[in-house]
Amino acid sequence: MAKVLDGVEIAAEIKAEVAAEVKELAARGVRPGLAVVQVGHVPASEIYVRNKVQTSEELGFLSERITPPETVTTEEMLDVIRALNDRDEIDGILVQLPLPKQVDAKALLDAIDPAKDVDGFHPINAGRLQAGRPALAPCTPAGVIEILKRSGIPIAGANAVVVGRSDIVGKPAALLLLNENATVTICHSKTRDLGAVTRGADILVAAIGRPGFITPEMVKPGATIIDVGINRVTEREEFDRFFAGNEKREAAFEKRGSVIVGDVHPAAFEIAGAYTPVPGGVGLLTIAMLMSNTVQAARMRRGL
Ligand code: GUN
Repeated sequence: MAKVLDGVEIAAEIKAEVAAEVKELAARGVRPGLAVVQVGHVPASEIYVRNKVQTSEELGFLSERITPPETVTTEEMLDVIRALNDRDEIDGILVQLPLPKQVDAKALLDAIDPAKDVDGFHPINAGRLQAGRPALAPCTPAGVIEILKRSGIPIAGANAVVVGRSDIVGKPAALLLLNENATVTICHSKTRDLGAVTRGADILVAAIGRPGFITPEMVKPGATIIDVGINRVTEREEFDRFFAGNEKREAAFEKRGSVIVGDVHPAAFEIAGAYTPVPGGVGLLTIAMLMSNTVQAARMRRGL
């Protein structure tokens, strides 16, 4: 039986550590401040942002949600960011993606003070990560490393294969694994004979955003699978391809008309030595690492 790497448990552990740091900072008169900017009403973003704000409040941060309208311009968004850069009580600035088409997302991310860039998306932080220097690292990839370390999965010397090369997950995940001395391969849509590459993985990170893309024959028996995907399945046919005969998922599908599936086909987990479930895996770590990054930013900005 493959071991389930429980995101709930690990996220709770990290949040407890962050809470202890918040207490320690409070004794020095410092309260970490996080501002989350959410444009318009993308349903998934609404849920993510609510969770981010709620968690930061629970941990005792100064927490702010800023909600410009769907019609906002790049110039107006730049004004919002500049104002947050200038406010000393704000340690972390997060602009929830995706943004509407008329907004130049890159210009915004570049405008965030790198010291407050708790998403780790600014080119300065990406460069620091690449150079192996201390940096605010993107939250989801940082969560992947925390899961591996806290579950006792050896990274140094392991063959790590990352499927997906996004700036937000795939690329930084590969760099973090490399910084931990894994032998890293990055795969993408043009990779030839993908299965041959993934079958060499001791650690397989799936971050392509396609439901159930990693199938059992692509996995080395005993490998550790980290499934970063969060895909909503609404079609019966697709549901059956992943969960036929699974009573719990069947009930959920009947009730809500959809279920969430990762980038890994559930049958592939049976071959693994350990894996992160979806939901209940990496997703929870993203928020925990955002909290950790915000405390780190609060400390660094004050030279603590
Ligand atoms: N949208 C989906 N994931 C993320 C994330 O980690 N950060 C931001 N800012 N937006 C997202």
